[in-house]
Amino acid sequence: MAVRLDGKALADRIKAQVREEAAALTRPPALAVVLAGDDPASQIYVRGKERDCAECGIQSRTHRLRCDEARRDLLPLIASLNQDPAVDGILVQLPLPEGLESRAVLQAIAPEKDVDCFHPLNVGRMALGEPGFRPCTPAGLLALLDAYAIPIRGRHCVILGRSNLVGRPLAQMLTARDGTVTLCHSRTEGLADLTRQADILVCAVGQAGLVTADMVREGAVVLDVAMNRTPEGRLTGDADFPAVEAKASFITPVPGGAGPMTRAMLMRNVLAAAKGGDAAC
Ligand code: GUN
Repeated sequence: MAVRLDGKALADRIKAQVREEAAALTRPPALAVVLAGDDPASQIYVRGKERDCAECGIQSRTHRLRCDEARRDLLPLIASLNQDPAVDGILVQLPLPEGLESRAVLQAIAPEKDVDCFHPLNVGRMALGEPGFRPCTPAGLLALLDAYAIPIRGRHCVILGRSNLVGRPLAQMLTARDGTVTLCHSRTEGLADLTRQADILVCAVGQAGLVTADMVREGAVVLDVAMNRTPEGRLTGDADFPAVEAKASFITPVPGGAGPMTRAMLMRNVLAAAKGGDAAC
């Protein structure tokens, strides 16, 4: 039976540390969150970020724009936040309403305030292994592995999902830590043969029940990043949790695993942005 990787407990410890470091600065760090449109999940995520900021002694200001306002005002708003010395970090909640191209919007954020690490400059720095921001979900997974002293070096890390948010950056970050990475996606052939080779299996697809116990090697570490809702309204990852838990050595619960860690890493990035320089690494 697997040990559950307690992301909530570790996130609480990290947030307490952020709070302590933030309190030592001459002024509290400040995060600007931009919420465009009325996506219900985004409203919940943004409220969670506001709560995290309050817990960490970080000032947060949420700019809410209706869809029609966003088309006109979003880029000028980002330009003014870029210029505002009282704003350390800027986060534009995704997805954006129809008609707004996320690529152009994310590129408009000043790289030194890009606490999501979505700007091409920061993505490039990460790809080169240079100091700088790291994207929150992959960074949270690495912090969780480290906290439980789970080694990465030389181990076969199989990632399901090649999103810009998780799969692609995580592949680079695990490679930088000397993991041997296989990045799988919707066109991968022989998926189960690959997942069965994984020492560390990362599920980041968004399809409940995708990963069954027969796809997991006895003793593997399973990191489940997905957040799916069952028809009954329950939150679940990609893995068939009870069956996979029985076979794995470590597993992230959903909820309470990767989710809280992502949020804690955002707080760390905001603190790093407030400190400036290369502190974000
Ligand atoms: N929407 C879902 N996840 C994220 C995230 O990590 N950052 C932003 N900006 N939007 C999201």
